[in-house]
Amino acid sequence: MNVSEAVATRRSVRAFTDQAVDQAILQRVLEKAQRSPSGGNTQPWHAAVLTGEPMQALFRSVADVLPQGRAAHTPEYDIYPEDLDGAYEQRRRGVGEDLYSALEITRENKAGRLMWFANNFRAFGAPVLMLVHTPKYMGPPQWSDVGMWLQTIMLLLREEGLDSCPQEAWAMYSAQVRRAVAIPDDHIFFCGMAIGYRDASAPVNNFPVKRAELYESVTWQGFD
Ligand SMILES: Cc1cc2nc3c(=O)[nH]c(=O)nc-3n(C[C@H](O)[C@H](O)[C@H](O)COP(=O)(O)O)c2cc1C
Repeated sequence: MNVSEAVATRRSVRAFTDQAVDQAILQRVLEKAQRSPSGGNTQPWHAAVLTGEPMQALFRSVADVLPQGRAAHTPEYDIYPEDLDGAYEQRRRGVGEDLYSALEITRENKAGRLMWFANNFRAFGAPVLMLVHTPKYMGPPQWSDVGMWLQTIMLLLREEGLDSCPQEAWAMYSAQVRRAVAIPDDHIFFCGMAIGYRDASAPVNNFPVKRAELYESVTWQGFD
């Protein structure tokens, strides 16, 4: 698999088979991902990787508080800017609509959407969940470094025939995450990442995920 194939075949996978993931493969991927770039070579990424009972215990602890709704949320940062608007907000809504229409859950079926969203807190059936954190004093440049590391991991997973879904949704339950894994007090919990083998037949893994045209993102100067 070349890099273009890894980029083209990566998507956020939200239904996994129950095939276990060999720790040696994850070790190999994470060792390679240590080559990710970071400003000043600070390498500000940290993670705990869970499977089996420790992961199930975390799922149970979130399931216990899910019925409380927002009252149980303990996010340590704003997942989106409060005033997200324009094209950014349209894209955010758009992918949600495309996802729920692939699942045939209508906009009116709010309970159905909420129930499906709760699959986040079972890592969409993946056998592995990685929980990502960074020191609290790190700023936007270091958060972007963590993002580069995450994408490097996601591409290397493709090379191993594996798939992933980065999951900010876990930020809503940072209290439960902190009880499940030893995140230092002076670190902020950023996101989870579900890792496993794709259920290729699941409709949720097959709807087209749109992208903006390049001109919306990039300008050029000085070319002929
Ligand atoms: C940092 C980050 C956090 C994300 N959190 C979630 C999440 O909590 N739940 C989810 O279903 N998708 C999550 N996503 C997936 C995005 O919705 C997805 O990347 C985007 O819609 C583009 O789709 P694609 O990854 O399939 O190309 C996250 C993606 C990133 C990069």
